[in-house]
Amino acid sequence: MSAVDPEPSAAAPPEGGPLAAVPIAPGVHWIGALDPGLRSFDVILRTANGTTYNAYAVRGAEGVAIIDTVKAEFADLFFARLEQVARYDEIRVIVLNHLEPDHTGAVPELLRRAPGARICVSPRGLQVLRALLREDFGRYDITAVTTGDSVSLGGRSLRFFTTPFVHWPDTQCTLLEEERLLFTCDLLGCHYCDARLFNDRVGDFRFSFEYYFDRIMRPFRSFVVQALDLIEPLDPAMIAPGHGPVLRAHPQQYIRHYRRLVSSNLAAETGAEKTLLIFYVSAYGATGQLAQAIHDGATEEPGVRVSLFDLQGGELAPFLGLIEAADGVVLGTPTINGDAVRTIWDLLSGFV
Ligand code: FEO
Repeated sequence: MSAVDPEPSAAAPPEGGPLAAVPIAPGVHWIGALDPGLRSFDVILRTANGTTYNAYAVRGAEGVAIIDTVKAEFADLFFARLEQVARYDEIRVIVLNHLEPDHTGAVPELLRRAPGARICVSPRGLQVLRALLREDFGRYDITAVTTGDSVSLGGRSLRFFTTPFVHWPDTQCTLLEEERLLFTCDLLGCHYCDARLFNDRVGDFRFSFEYYFDRIMRPFRSFVVQALDLIEPLDPAMIAPGHGPVLRAHPQQYIRHYRRLVSSNLAAETGAEKTLLIFYVSAYGATGQLAQAIHDGATEEPGVRVSLFDLQGGELAPFLGLIEAADGVVLGTPTINGDAVRTIWDLLSGFV
């Protein structure tokens, strides 16, 4: 019997038992952890279905690569699953696609157990790793990799693609070339915990996928486009993200769905070069009159498309896409006890 307690899962245990490493491709296992009880991630995301911290082990003829790890509290589960598929002295490579703590919580202990492994991170990841390892940084074999670099495991190779800001500056994707299996960490992931693991077996996670995009990726849309341009031609046969289901059925659909999410709602109908949005809340009409006056004045400016919105007449979420694409934004609010009204703050907080 294992000394490690399995996850307190409301869902079925992973295939093969509560602490099983799950095979996802020949010589490739999921060795992550389930966190079904999580209801808030990074303070700002609601996680009705919990989440998963996905990590993977890839075996080649000359050794094993570990792709990412898990949040620190789940390290025991990660090591229990890892030990089912590899010995620590077999680990030749540790790939860190992103160094946020939910993916690197087990890294210091993993390095203690596999001190000879070569760590592959992006150049910006190198800086974060230095902060994470502190005085131990110089003790390990750490290599900065960029797009086009690869590492061989014997008969199979991992190729790296620098995809910054999906979601931190350090992020990268890693392709297991022979399987066309793409490890994307946060990109194309979602907070959705289901031990059945694969997208063709889990429950309906569309809401979580889009919500995750909205809250994590949306502020970095231009970088998401760059990342999609880089990975889409790879035509991955499977996408293995750092959170949520492994996308083995129709992975290209998820890339296309990101394309739709990342694009503007509508193409501009006019040839106006600039856009100005005016949002207001008005208690007794005075702020509304000011907003209208600004609107009327700005409309006389050639080459500017001006739009006026009374926030009391609309949901806030649809405005976020407009604001992101706008050249200028004006906010009008009455004051209560010297402060803006809550609707204005809610609109602004949509960008955190
Ligand atoms: Fe899942 Fe940006 O960490």
